[in-house]
Amino acid sequence: PGGGRGPRKSLGFAPIAPVDAAVDSFDVPAGYEWEPLLRWGDPLFADSPEFNFRDQNAAAQARQFGYNNDYLEILRQPNGKKGLLVCNHEYVNPEIMFPAAPASAAEEAERRAIFRNAVGMSVVELERSSRGTPWNYVRGARLNRRITLDTVFELTGPAAGTELLKTAADPEGRFVLGTLGNCAGGSTPWGTVLSGEENFNGFFRADGTSAEDKRYGLDSAATAMGWEQEDPRFDARTPETRNEPNRFGYIVELDPEDPESVPRKHTSLGRFKHEGANVIIARNGKAVAYSGDDERFDYLYKFVSKNKYRKNDKRHNMTLLAEGDLYVARFAGNSPAAEIDGTGAVPADGGFDGRGTWLPLVVRGKSAIPGMSVAEVLVYTRLAADKAGATKMDRCEDVEPSLATGRVYVACTNNSNRGVGASAAADEVNPRRENRDGHIVEIIEDRDDATATSFRWNLLMLCGDPAQGDATYFSGYPRELVSPISCPDNLAFDSAGNLWISTDGAPSGIGYNDGLFKVALAGRDRGKVEQFLSVPRDGETCGPVIHDEESMVFVAVQHPGEDGSYGAHTSFFPDYVPDGAVPAAGEVRAPRPAVVQVYREDANPGRPGHKGRG
Ligand code: FEO
Ligand code: CA
Ligand code: CA
Ligand code: CA
Repeated sequence: PGGGRGPRKSLGFAPIAPVDAAVDSFDVPAGYEWEPLLRWGDPLFADSPEFNFRDQNAAAQARQFGYNNDYLEILRQPNGKKGLLVCNHEYVNPEIMFPAAPASAAEEAERRAIFRNAVGMSVVELERSSRGTPWNYVRGARLNRRITLDTVFELTGPAAGTELLKTAADPEGRFVLGTLGNCAGGSTPWGTVLSGEENFNGFFRADGTSAEDKRYGLDSAATAMGWEQEDPRFDARTPETRNEPNRFGYIVELDPEDPESVPRKHTSLGRFKHEGANVIIARNGKAVAYSGDDERFDYLYKFVSKNKYRKNDKRHNMTLLAEGDLYVARFAGNSPAAEIDGTGAVPADGGFDGRGTWLPLVVRGKSAIPGMSVAEVLVYTRLAADKAGATKMDRCEDVEPSLATGRVYVACTNNSNRGVGASAAADEVNPRRENRDGHIVEIIEDRDDATATSFRWNLLMLCGDPAQGDATYFSGYPRELVSPISCPDNLAFDSAGNLWISTDGAPSGIGYNDGLFKVALAGRDRGKVEQFLSVPRDGETCGPVIHDEESMVFVAVQHPGEDGSYGAHTSFFPDYVPDGAVPAAGEVRAPRPAVVQVYREDANPGRPGHKGRG
């Protein structure tokens, strides 16, 4: 930002009250309005069909905005009038995407083709009259792009071209069709977007007998999506397709400014259920990427590039994630084990804290794991990290370094199995048994050097609802003064250095709809959680983008109405029809995942924004 009439004052708001999980509304603070910017099915190209809930087909979906938007980035040109939106489409909810169940086998097959075209990614150009006013998307713009399962990706790094990645259809092991389970992500300092392939295993039918298959949740049952019925590569039980699942589970890099570019999958960052990845440039110029494996008792990883970042050299910088060192985190607490009793009670020293080590998996091109080659470490990264002795975490979702301080924040969303039966007991970094509400870890690299191999850590917060008696902790901030918060998932920062947290799972825990929360990280208010918005029934808040200097906030509302079924919807977001109104002929009466923009009500008088309840 800069130029024009200069930055407006930073985003101020009075926190909203939590919204009961039975309510279907999108809520924002007083003085703000919201409107959908892009919805599932919106036409992206000049020749795209208009969305028709009652008459869908696969070819149309490939030319429309995809389903279940998750990670979101909005890049702005210096004049503030043009923007570029990049979004992930993680998965589909078949039972609420059509008016009725499929009536024939042919219709079922057509729906499977629609689903294959509804996942992936979207790139969409935006425009507006001036900085700080709401955006419109530009249908047919030059950079608009849909990434689907037909899009060619190139594998990079030491595992590319090795036996583990070869299939009959790709005997060189270098090119993969499509990306799957794209969850969170991050933008790089060189203008590309990273996207994490998370729950890819569920799309494949496999032997399910090897240690590797078991560790990655690959099994022999028919898949829920059933894509193996039309496309044999989703059936990995044959010699021709056995390695196909090894070609998913990576960090993907996309250059949204070049619609012809071939997106890449970086094997150097390892293969696991990548929630996403976020990059910071270390003082010595190396690119450092942090990434979490979102599975109960899985791990936190760090990649350090071999080569250095060069300002204004995008071509060079786009090679940085192809070569470097990979580490996994081990945490140690500093309080007596007896004080970590699994209840979430704060230890006597006043905090959950300690030291940690980045354990090497691959360093200077060599495997650090006895008995595993570099390619094996990068493809079967979970097994390598098991051998290294990493710390089992409560589901690391977004992991994001603050570009202002270099401190790294890790959203541990929850872990219902912590301390249950034979599974890992509570420890100081995951201190609650049957962790329902999650917590956030703060990491401070030694010497504030992002390439360091050791660090200090503490918990920023133990989430929950203090008013319901949950054991919570907010860095010492008075618990009676915070907004209740549960299941932190995606993270973002504003220009003042505050952390913003979106949640996924609050309804089944503290009983409120998921939302977006701001928390101060420094000063007297450190730990003060304030709720900014609340998403509709059964929805998840994703991809927050905070343009606070413009008093604008963006979220991707994922799976609104997920618990509904054909014709029996629990949400009508975002195209709410007023109570008692008769839907017009052909009108959509079903929820649609959508990217929402929130702006000050004085930002564009006369625009049809919604206030508060939808
Ligand atoms: Fe797709 Fe870990 O959330
Ligand atoms: Ca302690
Ligand atoms: Ca997520
Ligand atoms: Ca989640």
